[in-house]
Amino acid sequence: MKELQQQFEHELLKCRTADDVEVLRLKYLGRKGAVQAQMKQLKDLQADEKADFGARINKLKNYIEEKIESFLRQILEQQRAEQIAQEHIDVTLPGRSSWAGASHPISVALRDQVRIFKDLGFSVQVGPQVESDYYNFDVLNFAEDHPAKDMQDTFYIEPGVLLRTHTSNAQGRVMERTSPPIRIVCPGRCFRNEEVSARSHVFFHQIEGLCVDETSSMQDLAWTLTEFANKYFQRDDVKIRFRPSYFPFVEPGVEVDASCTCSGKGCQLCKYTGWLELGGAGMVHAQVLRNVGIDPEKYQGYAWGFGIERMIMLRHAIKDIRLFSENDLRFLHQFPSV
Ligand code: DAH
Repeated sequence: MKELQQQFEHELLKCRTADDVEVLRLKYLGRKGAVQAQMKQLKDLQADEKADFGARINKLKNYIEEKIESFLRQILEQQRAEQIAQEHIDVTLPGRSSWAGASHPISVALRDQVRIFKDLGFSVQVGPQVESDYYNFDVLNFAEDHPAKDMQDTFYIEPGVLLRTHTSNAQGRVMERTSPPIRIVCPGRCFRNEEVSARSHVFFHQIEGLCVDETSSMQDLAWTLTEFANKYFQRDDVKIRFRPSYFPFVEPGVEVDASCTCSGKGCQLCKYTGWLELGGAGMVHAQVLRNVGIDPEKYQGYAWGFGIERMIMLRHAIKDIRLFSENDLRFLHQFPSV
């Protein structure tokens, strides 16, 4: 048995891999192995020799098992050490930050603006994007031959059905089913058959406002829009300016400007005028009130419609409206949001 042990030790020294050791294990501990062969001799021994002989075989068996196990452990450790030595970790590499999605800047602006108007007592209504020409034009006092009704300017789905050209389409729908006082804003997407350029697009967003009661005036309109502009542009010194203009559904009708951050000195953003154009507004035309069954002798109201993209462009000095619909992450990443 002593010889067997020495032979095993000698052969173990020659082992290099786990496979080599496995061959050795079978040779000594396998069913037809050397240790088993010794066991077979047990039965030929005298009873008093058996115990001693058995104990020595077991000892040898345990010894071989232990040696093999520690050899395998050694190989594993060596492999690990080699692997670690090969893996070169450059701790100066910048980490990969995790990617978080964000709301589109138009959604953020709509949300912000709606919140501001809600604080001023307005509630939210939305009109449909696919609209009849009645609510988009006729109820709003557009003449039958108004150029906006032309196929050149408006996308028609079929005769009499179109993609709304402005959020003003909600006005008639809301006034028809609500009796004054009415104070609503209607945000949403609009469509026009325009040539796409840095300043105009075939689709864009507006926020419409409408207030109808017994006393509302241009002064209330100016106050509301001044409050709104200060909050949205995060300032406290915005002045609102009205320039006379024409829209069939208001009388008087105005174009609304907000004073620029350059406070009249003139800058690139306001094209050296000191004013930024926000959109149209005015006092609801008596004919529109009549069209929806509201008595213009008793009620009056004001309305406005502002372009969302335009306001975002002014607030963030963005020069091209096409950026909003191109999904270029270099642009979108600049508007982190929750
Ligand atoms: N709907 C008009 C447009 O898209 C904007 C507008 C002007 C809306 C005057 C109004 C308004 O409510 O009173 O050009």
